[in-house]
Amino acid sequence: MKHFTQFESKELGQELIDLALAYKANSRLDLAKGQGKRIGCIFLNPSLRTRVSTQIAAQNLGMEAIVLNMDKEGWALEMNEGAVMNKGTVEHIKDAAGVLGSYFDILAIRAFPSLTNRDEDVNDFVFGQFVKYCGIPVVSLESAIRHPLQSLADQITIQEFSKEKKRKPKVVLTWGPHIKAIPHAVANSFAEWTLGMGHDLTITHPEGYELDEVFTKGATIEFNQSKALEGADFVYVKNWSSFNDYGKILSTDSNWMLTEKHLKHAENAKVMHCLPVRRNLELSDEILDGSRSLVQKQAENRIYAAQAVISTILG
Ligand code: CP
Repeated sequence: MKHFTQFESKELGQELIDLALAYKANSRLDLAKGQGKRIGCIFLNPSLRTRVSTQIAAQNLGMEAIVLNMDKEGWALEMNEGAVMNKGTVEHIKDAAGVLGSYFDILAIRAFPSLTNRDEDVNDFVFGQFVKYCGIPVVSLESAIRHPLQSLADQITIQEFSKEKKRKPKVVLTWGPHIKAIPHAVANSFAEWTLGMGHDLTITHPEGYELDEVFTKGATIEFNQSKALEGADFVYVKNWSSFNDYGKILSTDSNWMLTEKHLKHAENAKVMHCLPVRRNLELSDEILDGSRSLVQKQAENRIYAAQAVISTILG
């Protein structure tokens, strides 16, 4: 595996899950593997989990991690080829990414979408410019359209909590309300990985919130949330803005916020969320603080997901 930017195959997905679980059992198993190596973690957007879990993962492999909050501490980057840089941008991505490529063995990048230019976002333009010009292996810390490290951690968590089930689990991705326009990356990637790993997936959201079909082909789309939740084993809650009416908020209907009442026909359902979550807007306290919640487990698994990915790239 050279880069880790998206779901590749069920076989690789399972290999990464197995390796992550081995690291969870013994986090220092491969302490010598990354010695003398460096990973650069470049953030163009805020982070808590991704930033810290990736640093811990690198440390667990004996590797040095250097974080650069490029949005605050770096030069303003020019992304466009042939630009006359006589406005706000100070350094071209070609130069910056080239330099970073010479400093590190792996480059990890977070670059959110604009949510204003659909074509640029769908083509992962900013993220792609780093990949194009750095010349070394790249790990996605969340791009405009995907968040694969989150999804790997989510699949590890689903596998851990599926053990006692004698049948294929029913997985539901439900939209939750929010007051801000939120990217599609977590929802896209969750669908891509859940379907790719062979699970049944139902996606429920208000009409108008259809995700890009590239990610949801093979899932059942159900606009009736109660119906979608019936018999669910895992319910993944996430807000996203409209994809078709790009970046717009079409609904803030609080009836979509998951409470115990919503799960009366899904008695054993476990509830997942990638965090950060806006409590009692996107997801209720009673769910987040109750026994169904897997959110802390998911966050913990972010370490081992990142460790498995870095380790596999190191070879
Ligand atoms: N889930 C997640 O990626 O969290 P952060 O944005 O805090 O990294």
